[in-house]
Amino acid sequence: MPKRIAVLVSGGGTNLQALIDAQDRGELANGEIAAVLSSTPNAYALERARLAGIPGFSFPKSQYPTAQALTAALVDKLRELRIDLVVLAGFMTILTRELFQAYENAVINIHPSLIPSFCGKGCYGLHVHEKALEYGVKVSGATVHFVTEECDAGPIILQKAVEVQPEDTPEILQRRIMEQCEWKLLPQAVALFCQDRLAVEGRIVTILPPKTQAM
Ligand code: GRF
Repeated sequence: MPKRIAVLVSGGGTNLQALIDAQDRGELANGEIAAVLSSTPNAYALERARLAGIPGFSFPKSQYPTAQALTAALVDKLRELRIDLVVLAGFMTILTRELFQAYENAVINIHPSLIPSFCGKGCYGLHVHEKALEYGVKVSGATVHFVTEECDAGPIILQKAVEVQPEDTPEILQRRIMEQCEWKLLPQAVALFCQDRLAVEGRIVTILPPKTQAM
């Protein structure tokens, strides 16, 4: 049975698109994008889902009194849809422990820096790249990690680095990291999860070799 994937979004959805494209190329292995859930009803990501024939649902933040209430509504929907893997791809709301209890080691996030640098509360979007340039790092990149209660602190699955160039602006660095890191890493991590190739022990994620097919 393929693993059923839900992608949670809030914005443009280029990482969602990278997953859709990887699925179209047959690269998500044993995974199937079953739904896209958005915290903003007019996110372009929902249009991408529609164009790809994937059911889209919106959970406007403003309709829930607390982050906990929003999380509970999302968990109900994820269960109803029989989701196995939850992918946060630019989801702009911090979710509460109800999600991680329901989906332990089955929620992954993509962050546009080399964690543990330039991450945590308030470090999102262009801020991440502004901080990296201000600090003067010579490499930056992206990280895919399992999500735990502590923001951006769960076990790391994959990381990829790019060089920072002297003339970089936050926008230019953001674009390079998306193109060269994020859009590649996220489909790879999803495919590994869907093939049961990620073993988690404490903070350490081990990538297991591919299973050989029975003859
Ligand atoms: C990406 O930079 C991702 O790393 C971060 O949010 C952004 C989402 O962009 N978590 P998009 O909506 O996938 O284009």
